[in-house]
Amino acid sequence: MSDQSQLQAQAAEISIDHKTLYPPSPEVVARARIKDRDTLSKFAADHPEQFWAERAEELEWYGKWEKVLDDSNKPFFKWFVGGKFNIVHNALDRHMKTWRKNKVAYIWQGEDFSERQISYADLNREVCRFANVLKSLGVKKGDRVTIYMGRVIELPIAMLACAKIGAVHSVVYGGFSVQALAGRILDSQSKVLVTCDGAYVNGKVVELKQIADDAIKEAPIVEKVVVYKRTGRKIGWVEGRDHWWHDLMKDASPVCETEVMDAEDPLFILYTSGSTGKPKALLHTHGGYAVYTYTTMRYVFDIQDEDRYWCAADPGWITGHSYIVYAPLMNGATSIIYEGGPAHPAPDRWWSIVEQYGVTILYCAPTGIRGLMRFGEEWPKKHDLSSLRLLGSVGEPINPEAWRWYYVHVGGSRCPIMDTWWQTETGGFMITPLPVTPLKPGSATQPFFGIRAEVVDDNGNPTPPGEEGYLTILAPWPGMARTIYGDPDRYVQTYWSRYPGRYFTGDSARVDQDGYFWIIGRVDDVLKVSGYRLGTAEVESALVSHPAVAEAAAIGLPHEVRGNAIYTYVILRAGYEGTPELAEELRQHVGKVMGPIARPEKVEFVAKLPKTRSGKIMRRVLKARAQGLPEGDLTTLEE
Ligand code: WT7
Repeated sequence: MSDQSQLQAQAAEISIDHKTLYPPSPEVVARARIKDRDTLSKFAADHPEQFWAERAEELEWYGKWEKVLDDSNKPFFKWFVGGKFNIVHNALDRHMKTWRKNKVAYIWQGEDFSERQISYADLNREVCRFANVLKSLGVKKGDRVTIYMGRVIELPIAMLACAKIGAVHSVVYGGFSVQALAGRILDSQSKVLVTCDGAYVNGKVVELKQIADDAIKEAPIVEKVVVYKRTGRKIGWVEGRDHWWHDLMKDASPVCETEVMDAEDPLFILYTSGSTGKPKALLHTHGGYAVYTYTTMRYVFDIQDEDRYWCAADPGWITGHSYIVYAPLMNGATSIIYEGGPAHPAPDRWWSIVEQYGVTILYCAPTGIRGLMRFGEEWPKKHDLSSLRLLGSVGEPINPEAWRWYYVHVGGSRCPIMDTWWQTETGGFMITPLPVTPLKPGSATQPFFGIRAEVVDDNGNPTPPGEEGYLTILAPWPGMARTIYGDPDRYVQTYWSRYPGRYFTGDSARVDQDGYFWIIGRVDDVLKVSGYRLGTAEVESALVSHPAVAEAAAIGLPHEVRGNAIYTYVILRAGYEGTPELAEELRQHVGKVMGPIARPEKVEFVAKLPKTRSGKIMRRVLKARAQGLPEGDLTTLEE
């Protein structure tokens, strides 16, 4: 197994402790939708197509599918082939026929404590109006629209409006910067960009419009920009190109027909980092993605009508796409969206939101928990958190210490933690507890219904219990990404060629003697920093774009709160001196090019980098050196 994953295992203090089981309480079992995981698991394993067809029947289709699964062109699987469908019909339109139209869809709180609530009927009206706005700007079925916004309700509105008319949204996280945005606009060929005049995060304003203006200079294909006013600050304006959201919405009709799509028509693309410098756009479709996210939300978070559900992620990531926007709305849930930082203005901001709205289900990332844990348990203690009944975790392994803090001080030792393992590529939860699953802190427990997961060695043979290997998935599932937009070869290469016939996750894991899965971490050049996914190659190319830098290498080292911190090694061009000021300038440069999340912890100047004879940087050697660990096999090293 790689050094990297061993280091990550240490960092996450994963202990295979089979003894500490946290069984669900009788109250949790009493109200759980699925009480007997094993029986349904067996049924789904024996009859996957029937299992998924029954789930699909719970949604509304304009026309029934002819075939549940088409596997004639592997690995380009198709689900619900021939079915006529639109995810927005299920997220909004169908609720208009029931009492649920007056139910609150989103409760929003700004970082400045301003508040909005929007019912399903109002949300539907806004989505229809924005769909008409998009049409008036010339957006047609199949066109890509880039959305680059802060955490406001208009972000889901823009996404849903695209989906409603059959356009393909490409949301770029509001924490990304000029180059990242420009690259994604160009790759997706978006002619329309939806943004905000700014966003409030941690007491500061993120100048989204300024970044968008700079990005469009590099990606001049954008013809129309729609700007939602959040801050009211002065921004640049290009007459003819830029339009205020509120101006366009004023005259837009609140009635708009939902486009009838094929189940396999594209719904969105979402960029994520891989092992090269170029992020890849995973493509998800209307039908299968809807069935998968709807079902996983229902069974794992056991969502009920009286719930107040809060996923504290950003809608700009897959977690937000699936479990803030589409799955909660299809399930008719009431969700909370909070705009700002978890510790602003004080470290009890999250807990005050839980108390204020009576949140029953809280879903967040371990890095958030570790960050708030530092301030001490007196902060959650200030608030009545007794409304909570289920907790969730996602994005990286949760170390047992954070797990226990979350369990005891947030969940009052009554709420099971759904540690959900999944990826941008998988669309929804893949390995996850259900409320009734006995838990082991740090384990994502078992594969979801119909998911066949296996941990294998280099040769593709299952590893014995307790032994580390590569996590692979053996059978297709409805929520899987269908391809990499514009690059099907890379899709096959990245995910389906290492182990023919299997999906390769890029993660290492172990399975213990009870069949519980323990995710260890990435085995490729992908880093998880505060739950964000970044490629070392992207950080390196950002560094090299600075005139002083000849060559650069980036690695992740264990970090107490962020999971990983980025360390970089730089060879300067002749004539430059490695001063502390230049190191700081390079850190800021990466932040400016990629976004603050990618800003390295440290920039170190070196005269040479450890490389293989073929010129590949040996990052594991840098990592071992940085930590004073043995450097391992150096036979291929040519420094
Ligand atoms: C990578 C995918 C899926 C939504 C957010 C991340 C890591 C994700 C867990 C978990 C251990 C996890 C994996 C995976 N990861 N969830 N519960 N336990 N690791 O999506 O940005 O596509 O990242 O996140 O390494 O491969 P993503």
